[in-house]
Amino acid sequence: MQIFLDSTDTKVIADLASTGLVDGVTTNPTLIAKSGRPMLEVIAEICDLVPGPISAEVAATTADAMIAEGQKLAGIAPNVVVKIPLTRDGLIACTAFANEGISTNVTLCFSPTQALLAAKAGATFVSPFIGRLDDYGFDGMDLIRDIRTIYDNYGYETEILAASVRNVAHVKDAAIVGADVVTIPPAVFSDLFKHPLTDKGLEQFMKDWAGTGQSIL
Ligand code: E4P
Repeated sequence: MQIFLDSTDTKVIADLASTGLVDGVTTNPTLIAKSGRPMLEVIAEICDLVPGPISAEVAATTADAMIAEGQKLAGIAPNVVVKIPLTRDGLIACTAFANEGISTNVTLCFSPTQALLAAKAGATFVSPFIGRLDDYGFDGMDLIRDIRTIYDNYGYETEILAASVRNVAHVKDAAIVGADVVTIPPAVFSDLFKHPLTDKGLEQFMKDWAGTGQSIL
């Protein structure tokens, strides 16, 4: 499974990318607003930091305007993925991008049939929002499971990008049900490394090793 960071914080992205475990980055208008920086500059910087797919979201709502914005965003760097909302206009734009060979991430997906349409429109990625569904009393993981079944039934190549991830359990469950990618906030990425038994075991090993008085180097 590929792991993307859901962030526009370039310092944090640079730090976490240095682990060699970050495959891409997703952004959205809220995260751009949080950065307080010009979008085109932030996206260009992220594209330099991480060679994988970097999602940059259009701000328009009509197909023609989305296409114009998406073409500009795609011109920033070869690894830009144009992120478009899962609306009728968004899917018209998605088909146009697919015909032009521009990669897309269809976002704000909340139902299996929306995901079916995104695949038919030639989306590179579809982003089902797990956490926001959970917040409303649904099970976000059911959506990932249903999309996996539909895509496998028909051989769609659109990659399932589990989004709106809130915790380590979401990452584990998304991996079990077969999401292709998970995009996670930096704090959740850092949590993936942690286990109290790892800390406890390491502490004991270090104590016992110190008692031997040996040195490997
Ligand atoms: C994904 O591409 C979105 O940017 C993101 O995962 C949304 O997450 P949120 O529901 O925590 O805002």
